[in-house]
Amino acid sequence: MLDQTSVHVDAPTVTTPDDYRRVRDVLDRAGYTDENIVKLMGVDLSRLGERKLPALLRRLNGGTPLETLVKLFILDQDVDAAAVQKALAPMTPESWAAIGLIEPAGAGQYGACVQLRCYQGLILAYDFTRRGRGGVRSDFVMSVSPSTIVLLGMTVRRKNHAMLDLGAGCGIHALVAARHSDRAVGVDVNPRALAISRFNAGLNGLANVQFRDGDMFSAVEGETFDLIVSNPPFIIQPESRHTFLNSGTEGDDICRRLAKDAPRFLNDGGFCIFNANWAVVDGEDWKARLAGWFDGSGCDALVIEQGIVDLGEYAAGLIEIGEGEQAEFLRLFDRWMDYYAQRKIVNIGRGVIVMRKAGGRPNWFDVIAGPAEITFPSGDDVAQLVELHTFLHGLRDDRDLLDVRLRLAPNVRFEQTSQAVNGAWTQVSGRLRRVNGLGYSGAAEAMTAALVARYDGQRAVRDHLTELAAAANTPVASIEPSALAIIRRLVEQGFLVPVDLVSPSA
Ligand SMILES: C[S@@+](CC[C@H](N)C(=O)[O-])C[C@H]1O[C@@H](n2cnc3c(N)ncnc32)[C@H](O)[C@@H]1O
Repeated sequence: MLDQTSVHVDAPTVTTPDDYRRVRDVLDRAGYTDENIVKLMGVDLSRLGERKLPALLRRLNGGTPLETLVKLFILDQDVDAAAVQKALAPMTPESWAAIGLIEPAGAGQYGACVQLRCYQGLILAYDFTRRGRGGVRSDFVMSVSPSTIVLLGMTVRRKNHAMLDLGAGCGIHALVAARHSDRAVGVDVNPRALAISRFNAGLNGLANVQFRDGDMFSAVEGETFDLIVSNPPFIIQPESRHTFLNSGTEGDDICRRLAKDAPRFLNDGGFCIFNANWAVVDGEDWKARLAGWFDGSGCDALVIEQGIVDLGEYAAGLIEIGEGEQAEFLRLFDRWMDYYAQRKIVNIGRGVIVMRKAGGRPNWFDVIAGPAEITFPSGDDVAQLVELHTFLHGLRDDRDLLDVRLRLAPNVRFEQTSQAVNGAWTQVSGRLRRVNGLGYSGAAEAMTAALVARYDGQRAVRDHLTELAAAANTPVASIEPSALAIIRRLVEQGFLVPVDLVSPSA
């Protein structure tokens, strides 16, 4: 099935579906996989930027097809036509140029038009970060960035009938979710993003994904989904020169709109997960302001906060300028700061927001600090966290915990640091830490850790506290409030889990 945009854009485009297979065969024959490329380069590709180009190029001097492809599509180097010819055989440089993957670069060489990068068995095209005047092109199609990876890792991966990716870019969220969904829909306003994501779907042989042109939910009016994923253009800034950063919305409206509109497009029990930036406004409690986004939405909302950022640092890291445009940077920096001052914005909050349609039950809103570490995949942990918070919101107060049987999550570890004192190791600090998934951790004394280890799901919390009070020779009432507050916190972060909790993969 060919599903190409009718608007001509300078992005890879095939004319027959067979071209996808032919291009993919060339890449597969060369061994163009993450594993082979990492072996060849001697460096994890996420750390490519830290290595100097000459050192990397020295490793690629054997003239194999894989080396040529890596020079072109990862290192953005022009390569002699003869080597390109050899790497692309039985296809030709001309046919790859006609598709828009390479172009003549003068002096008998070819250069790549887009990157080709591997991610979880997919090969994905997207733009190189080439900075002209004003920074990267305004219709730049973003790479698989750290924000992309966090969202990919935290997405709840269940079998879906339908999933939606809003602000698809190179299409990665829709393409990954297509593997566990009957069908996936990606939406973008950038015609180049649509062309590239359609190309990526074809190159990876994924026929159950469709990419549509539209402003957020306008492209799926009347449809509902089990999963909505979005890495929206959330940058809070005075201009919209780059569609992938901000496509013309005021303040944090893009995220507010997502929160407000998503419930209409979600099936009961369905998840919506998105990266968000929000304004912290002088004199306003930002948590209360965010809570307002979900009032009456019928969706539970968990804000996993990843930091409250200084405005100057935020702007300096995001202002898109070309090489050597320092004066322009200063002009824009002032403009960004004035924009914030006029709106009384004093900081920017960052985080991942998880919504789940509550199915008629009263919805809840919580903010939780993000874990120090996230290992991927962590979607099951995210789903479990939502279940745990639903459980906690169902309690009248902490005393309801007394009747609950809790078990220590199997991925919790207790780490101790000791110091030599008088010839013997003495513990000076300890941490309870969740390994795998959402890596929450917190300081804990050996005594607390020992008590927590006894939570094996066999006895109610009341029995544990009675035993603890007896051991300390104190009335249970004297320890109950503080012990229950600690237990609540341990449940909130997934250290302790009620035995009757619905399984996260249900
Ligand atoms: C931050 S990029 C995310 C790209 C990709 N999903 C990822 O996670 O790597 C935001 C994407 O949203 C698209 N976009 C901007 N405004 C939009 C709008 N109003 N409706 C739909 N998509 C939009 C941009 O073109 C861009 O591809």
